[in-house]
Amino acid sequence: MDLLKQKINSEGTVLSEHVLKVDSFINHQIDPALMVEIGKEFAKRFKDNQITKVLTIESSGIAPGLMAALELSVPVIFARKRKSLTLVNDVLTSTVHSFTKNETNEISVSSKFINSTDNVLIIDDFLANGQAALGLADLVQQAGANVAGIGIVIEKSFQQGRQLLNEKGYRVESLARIQSLENGKVTFSEEVGA
Ligand code: G4P
Ligand code: NA
Ligand code: NA
Repeated sequence: MDLLKQKINSEGTVLSEHVLKVDSFINHQIDPALMVEIGKEFAKRFKDNQITKVLTIESSGIAPGLMAALELSVPVIFARKRKSLTLVNDVLTSTVHSFTKNETNEISVSSKFINSTDNVLIIDDFLANGQAALGLADLVQQAGANVAGIGIVIEKSFQQGRQLLNEKGYRVESLARIQSLENGKVTFSEEVGA
């Protein structure tokens, strides 16, 4: 997605060989016009897949998840990372280990919002080691629903996530695929549609 790659080039900051800072348009300040386009691009890629729900995770997945859901005319659900005061009954939970942060978190959704007839599109802002996406897919499977695919805004292709998700049989659509962050520079994958 060219608009996204341009934005990464102009405003992204390479913090290390592993981490890209995009807090001026995704992770802290959000660019609404870019998010609308991100939603349209996800919707285009999954338009023939009869999506009934979008599932994402708080907090940075919510903006792209919402925009994708708007374009697909379906609801968006965000998994919670912290215990909710009101989320007490019929909760599905999974465990997500972050290798980046070296911490393990429980994520949860109410079973009320995903059922066995749902065809779910999972959306997240970053794909690194794939653990958040796998946790979300686990929640969908616990609900007896189908994972239609996984939509990622920024994939770091040099980490394990993409390969892991493909090995599990999931279709992954990433709007920007980063081959390397070496030498303080963002290098995108050259594939068509990357
Ligand atoms: P994984 O799910 O792919 O295994 O990812 P990982 O544990 O490595 O990521 C932990 C957190 O760090 C996630 O956000 C993820 O989006 C974010 N992250 C991973 N790599 C990068 C990167 O290169 N740049 C930026 N900006 N973020 C990255 P989170 O803790 O869930 O936070 P939130 O922003 O959604 O609240
Ligand atoms: Na995220
Ligand atoms: Na994040």
